[in-house]
Amino acid sequence: TKRVFSAFTASGHLTLGNLLGAMLPAVRLQDEADCVYAVANLHALTVKHDPALLRERTLEMATLMLACGMDRSLVYIQSEVPAHTELSYLLECTAHYGEMRRMIQFKEKSAGNEEVRLSLLTYPALMAADILLHRAHQVPVGEDQRQHVELTRDLALRFNHRYGETFTLPEAVHPPVAARVMDLADPTAKMSKSRGSAGTIYLLDDPADAHRKVMRAVTDSGGEVVHDPANKPGVSNLLTILSACTGRPVESFSYEGYGALKRDVAEAVVETLRPIRERHAELSADPAELSRILTGGAARAAERTAGLMAAARQAIGLPSTA
Ligand code: TYM
Repeated sequence: TKRVFSAFTASGHLTLGNLLGAMLPAVRLQDEADCVYAVANLHALTVKHDPALLRERTLEMATLMLACGMDRSLVYIQSEVPAHTELSYLLECTAHYGEMRRMIQFKEKSAGNEEVRLSLLTYPALMAADILLHRAHQVPVGEDQRQHVELTRDLALRFNHRYGETFTLPEAVHPPVAARVMDLADPTAKMSKSRGSAGTIYLLDDPADAHRKVMRAVTDSGGEVVHDPANKPGVSNLLTILSACTGRPVESFSYEGYGALKRDVAEAVVETLRPIRERHAELSADPAELSRILTGGAARAAERTAGLMAAARQAIGLPSTA
């Protein structure tokens, strides 16, 4: 069977972009594949963080992943399976400084920052470790993570070539629409957790807030409703969101003006978030159950990855004396 892996960084509240670009596609893959989804809390340590807040957000992220419907997958917290960091080191010894430095996300996040954590540079090695550890064939992610998955493939190929067949080559899979959801207030920028913009919809926004944010979305000049991302980024983004929330193709929509379009988008977003909010509330009321799921998940993940980890150690020349 096909194996799928993805992870979600525990840094701030999840957005509609995370949901449509990666989480719902990850949920859908459960019907056809063996899926493993992790909370990437170690990746959250690559930028300035607050320890207590990180602990809280890690559990919150796990709760939201389950609330979105990942409860048929193996779900666990990355830091609870030490093989992630161990394999990450072996991949740091496979990767080159130049290729890490050239990653778009590294360039963006390090620009103008005096205190860039070294882990921000090596971030893609840890991400590659996450994926390769599970011998994943497919990695459901948004457009912004494509480059990291390509690097993962390169590292796997290089390692296999040098030390013998060890890793499965993964590929990124993107949803047909909404692989890059844009900020509602600035449709030329990606909707992101960290921007704190009025144009970011969070999964736990109350329905009135979510509705208002859509109604205030920046649109484009000229009243026509057409999907044309280059010339009409605002309207195109709304159509994309509507398509992803309703499961209908973008071409199937026809609107006379922006008002009616926005009302339908707002409605569709609220209806998409509603069951997630409800499930989140139920899960939050039972922390013992959450911790049972996560402890069991980590134990199973450790078991499932032990063989691959041993093979990687062996291949690269580390002794096994046990
Ligand atoms: P993260 O936590 O930033 O985002 C989680 C997922 O959401 C997608 N995404 C979006 N999709 C569409 N539109 C947007 N505006 C948008 N914003 C975010 C991201 O592409 C991602 O799929 N490095 C990863 C986490 C990670 C990971 C992994 C992913 C760690 N290890 C292994 C896959 C496999 C990240 O920071 O995603």
